[in-house]
Amino acid sequence: MLNKISQAIADDWKQDPYYLLAEKSVDFFWGGGGGKIPFFGGFKELDPENIVELACGHGRHVPKYMDDAETVTLVDVNQENIDFCKQRFSGNPKIRFYLTTGNNFQGLPDASYSAIFTYDSMIHFNLIDIANYINDAWRILKPGGRILFHHSNYYGAEPGNFYFQNPGGHNFCSDRIFAHLATVAGFKVLSQDLIDVDTGTGVVKGLGCLSLCEKTDEYFSTCEKAREARTAHAVALIREKMKQKR
Ligand SMILES: C[S@@+](CC[C@H](N)C(=O)[O-])C[C@H]1O[C@@H](n2cnc3c(N)ncnc32)[C@H](O)[C@@H]1O
Repeated sequence: MLNKISQAIADDWKQDPYYLLAEKSVDFFWGGGGGKIPFFGGFKELDPENIVELACGHGRHVPKYMDDAETVTLVDVNQENIDFCKQRFSGNPKIRFYLTTGNNFQGLPDASYSAIFTYDSMIHFNLIDIANYINDAWRILKPGGRILFHHSNYYGAEPGNFYFQNPGGHNFCSDRIFAHLATVAGFKVLSQDLIDVDTGTGVVKGLGCLSLCEKTDEYFSTCEKAREARTAHAVALIREKMKQKR
């Protein structure tokens, strides 16, 4: 469940002129940007077999990748967007739709998807929701599955700012914070590319970030080893103290 502010962010995107305008610039992200946007390169690192698109909006990216996928799962928090996509892609049996409560994939099965990506959406999300999405992404991915998440790198944001008080609606986050959240959720961070953003009043360097991460078990075994070492150290200390008492 979302808190009041996260819900307000979600509600802002039930209807917006953005959808019509953005449709016209979609080619820019899919190789037409002359390499200025790292998205296309990052997407090529995903296995699209059973792909999930998080915060799909009106589904403008779907025609760019659906032919390469066996199944496409479109996820959004707004029923309005899910309904739009259902109509847009009606009759296409490989496309599935999923209405999220706003920070998880509950209802989607464990270890079942090859990749999850999101573009132009997570930049707006509250950090607490990003953390929850990352955690649940690990659950639904197959081993070796990958996430490609476009998020904010606006760590200069005044804590507590509503997202549109920041340039381009970029909420508080950073490449390092994201890398930490992804790592402790069990992902290996493969790459992070900063994105310069034209906010309308000028270009802000490195305002966005595109993070590519892979589901592994490595982090948990590293932690387990550190935990065992700490326990062994504590046991050795206790033994030493007992010896001294004798
Ligand atoms: C700016 S639109 C981008 C849509 C799409 N990614 C695109 O590139 O055209 C932001 C999207 O994020 C969705 N959204 C907002 N908050 C969300 C949340 N907590 N969970 C999932 N989707 C959310 C909105 O419904 C909307 O579809």
